[in-house]
Amino acid sequence: MWNLIQLHLFDCLTKRQTCIILLLLLTFSCIVYLAIEWAFIRQWINVSPIPLYDNNTLLILWYNKPVWINEFLVNKGLGTCPYSNCKTTTSKALISKSASVIYVISSDGVPRIPPVSAAHRNKDQAWVFFNLEPQTLYRINFGPEWTYVMNWSMMYHRDADIPYPYGAIELRNKSQSVRDKKNYGAIFDGKSVFASWFVSHCHVQSRRDEYVEQMQKYGVQIHIFGSCFKNQLSLPKNDPQKIDKVLYQSKFYLAFENSFCEDYVTEKFFERFNSDTIMVVRGGTNYTKYFPPGTFVNAADFGNAKKLAEFLIRFGNNKSEYTAMLRRKDMYVSPQPQLVYCKSYCKLCEMLNNVDKYRKTYKTIREYVDSKPCTAPKDIE
Ligand SMILES: *[C@@H]1O[C@H](CO)[C@@H](O)[C@H](O)[C@H]1NC(C)=O
Ligand SMILES: *[C@@H]1O[C@H](CO)[C@@H](O)[C@H](O)[C@H]1NC(C)=O
Ligand SMILES: *[C@@H]1O[C@H](CO)[C@@H](O)[C@H](O)[C@H]1NC(C)=O
Ligand SMILES: *[C@@H]1O[C@H](CO)[C@@H](O)[C@H](O)[C@H]1NC(C)=O
Ligand SMILES: *[C@@H]1O[C@H](CO)[C@@H](O)[C@H](O)[C@H]1NC(C)=O
Repeated sequence: MWNLIQLHLFDCLTKRQTCIILLLLLTFSCIVYLAIEWAFIRQWINVSPIPLYDNNTLLILWYNKPVWINEFLVNKGLGTCPYSNCKTTTSKALISKSASVIYVISSDGVPRIPPVSAAHRNKDQAWVFFNLEPQTLYRINFGPEWTYVMNWSMMYHRDADIPYPYGAIELRNKSQSVRDKKNYGAIFDGKSVFASWFVSHCHVQSRRDEYVEQMQKYGVQIHIFGSCFKNQLSLPKNDPQKIDKVLYQSKFYLAFENSFCEDYVTEKFFERFNSDTIMVVRGGTNYTKYFPPGTFVNAADFGNAKKLAEFLIRFGNNKSEYTAMLRRKDMYVSPQPQLVYCKSYCKLCEMLNNVDKYRKTYKTIREYVDSKPCTAPKDIE
């Protein structure tokens, strides 16, 4: 035996390369062996995996996170909240450690029956149903197993437990100096397009395509970007500079929602509010009640497309009236969307830190959603 090893060692020394390879293989096998062994030992002595978060962190688990929610940004926002001890995750393995579980009710990925039964669920774990789509665009597929399990709503509705609006309009700080600097007359004179409309969803609940056709019939010149109409212009979706240019050149921008639903006002309105154009809004909320009057034109004030068209043509050609509205609009500002949705996550975190104060259970999700009806448009001839 010894002789054999000696012989081989000698062999090795003469064939150095083979020897190195053999030694590497041996080392590698040892590492693999130890790793396997360690896994077994760990199981025996029940060493838990290294905790991802320390014990004071309240985890918010997205059960079926939509792609457009950026986990990194949400966590960054959560870090700035008055209660800064919440973190978001998408790891279902952490469900039993999570303070809250968010279910996106308008997308796939919610199981037929709840992932944790009532008996096994920690009573302090808040289940949240989340949704930003109007109910005209999705169906609620939650069976009877899902009754009396949801705790809080996180939606665009004003009265949701955690309101999650698409944006906000606030008084602008130092608005006077902004307004003093702007030459509103020159802005008006530089406008070469009467109205612009960006649209990508055709034939929707609000029947906005028909409404726009009627506006055109009554003389409103509209540049339509998108794919719903013949001879449309291409939508500069990913080109903010081009969008800014289009808005700057246009007297009016049509912020027409796809559905007439309570509180349903989307980024169409908030994203464009700060542009030097006047928005024409059409949707299911009472804009007059919730947004500063005299900063936009509301189709609802006119009853039909003909009356709106007559107004726009008169108003859009009256420099003093038009610039007065632009100037008034600059008293307000639409803050960055991140600042708005951060407030929602901060609210959720505050609630998780005070669970007893906010304890509640919904019978069904439908019960809540159905209390916010969508209505058919009444302004189409
Ligand atoms: C975290 O909690 C576990 C069980 O609740 C406890 O055993 C552990 O010591 C805690 N760790 C820290 C860092 O507080
Ligand atoms: C206005 O200024 C205050 C104080 O600096 C700040 O907290 C607030 O966010 C500002 N509002 C806007 C809309 O910028
Ligand atoms: C909208 O709100 C305003 C102000 O609160 C109110 O006067 C008006 O009647 C409301 N309009 C509708 C259609 O509910
Ligand atoms: C524009 O509106 C103002 C105020 O309503 C009015 O006095 C003026 O005559 C209008 N100008 C034109 C050109 O219609
Ligand atoms: C959530 O609902 C469950 C089921 O009714 C209830 O036991 C629990 O106390 C509620 N939790 C919160 C945080 O509201």
